[in-house]
Amino acid sequence: MDKVTIFGAGHVGATTAFYLALSATLEIALVDVAEGRATGIAMDIAQAMPYTGSGSRLVGGTDPGLAEGSDLVVVTAGFPRTPGMSRLDLTARNAPIVTDIARKVAAGSPSAVLVNVTNPVDEMTFMAWEASGFDERRVAGMAGVLDTSRFMYFLDRLASKPPRDVNAMVLGTHGDEMVPLTETSTVGGRPLSGEVDADVLGRVVERTRDGGAEIVSYMKTGSAYYAPAVSIGTMALAILGDTGRVLPVSAYLKGEYGISDMFLGVPAKLGRDGVLEVVELPLSLGELSALEAAATGVGARLAEARKAGSDESD
Ligand code: 2OP
Repeated sequence: MDKVTIFGAGHVGATTAFYLALSATLEIALVDVAEGRATGIAMDIAQAMPYTGSGSRLVGGTDPGLAEGSDLVVVTAGFPRTPGMSRLDLTARNAPIVTDIARKVAAGSPSAVLVNVTNPVDEMTFMAWEASGFDERRVAGMAGVLDTSRFMYFLDRLASKPPRDVNAMVLGTHGDEMVPLTETSTVGGRPLSGEVDADVLGRVVERTRDGGAEIVSYMKTGSAYYAPAVSIGTMALAILGDTGRVLPVSAYLKGEYGISDMFLGVPAKLGRDGVLEVVELPLSLGELSALEAAATGVGARLAEARKAGSDESD
């Protein structure tokens, strides 16, 4: 039975555990620093299994040692962004959490694939990779699957005639530098931009980019978790099932799309070894330059975070 550990039993981690427990028969460990939380959630999900036909087994607790021997580790632990907090503040708070987990994962599960979800995703995934010492293929970030799910949802809801047979993808970062592929995505094999009105497509892009914030504005004190959980689960099942499915994930780039030494949302073929291949789509010039702008943003923020970190340790 494959083993998955989820660090962070907040709404995203807990819902991911529930979704994965139902979707396959897995050994799932849930780890959270809050005393009792992961234990209770794991027990609750385990007690739901008898009627489901799933043979998944769950354990939970505060001990990171519960992760030992995992095939896949998902990191959702960290602080959410709260009003008034900059991306740099968030990076400074979450970097120690994510890097500490990555080191422990490397020690206890040396052949695991690590999927980071903690925000800011691309920057945290880079730091988790560095701390783990893992081959870059074994580390990826989750954001593009969620953004693509939202993109397809809004396309379906906002177009006067919902397009059929959509093959869409959202690349770049999980935020302002998101790159919804409006030209390379297709509807029935034809370019999306030719099949859906430009103003509708503009609104779809805007709602997708602000998708997470829109939900926070309704929930006030929390952020989305059902769509994030299904998106994490979709990545996890592609990895564990060694399916070779191509999904948009934050992957390490070594010259693909003209970008190097950075994690950024790109299409990637997923399997047991993690990112089997970064798929280079023939993007339009506009899409390519938006992806380059996203890379510049991530690079600048990583440099800023490193500088802040070294100033602190001086
Ligand atoms: C989201 O997009 C907050 O990243 C989270 O819902």
